[in-house]
Amino acid sequence: GAPVEVDISKLEPGQLIRVEWRGKPVWVVSRTPKMLEQMKEHEGQLRDPQSQEPQQLESSTNDYRSLRPEIFLAVGICTHLGCSPGFLQGNFGEKVEGTDDGFYCPCHGSKFDMAGRVFQSVPAPLNLEIPPYTFLDETTILVG
Ligand code: FES
Repeated sequence: GAPVEVDISKLEPGQLIRVEWRGKPVWVVSRTPKMLEQMKEHEGQLRDPQSQEPQQLESSTNDYRSLRPEIFLAVGICTHLGCSPGFLQGNFGEKVEGTDDGFYCPCHGSKFDMAGRVFQSVPAPLNLEIPPYTFLDETTILVG
């Protein structure tokens, strides 16, 4: 599949846009300072803290799992059995533990934080996959 260009000039803080790359959904999220703060609290609650499996890109193993802290990209496919998690902000209601922003897979209840890091005690074994990408300029990302 060809690389996909994504214009993020209109992406608002807290917003997620979806693009398709190689037939897969890819999310591009503008993370707010609050989201970045919340992520720091998750150390110790993570199942795959180092993103070691499968082999991940270098850009997916730093604390933010991204090239720029505020811009996050992930393949929007649950690492359990491949459902598509939803983007949840704020109040998750009763079915999801915690109130931090993140991604919730409705199929079997896996929860990922705003870096796509999977929490312990859910079925998904691994963090969300990060696609290869580069910044062509301040507001244009090339995925692939
Ligand atoms: Fe997402 Fe099972 S496919 S939790």
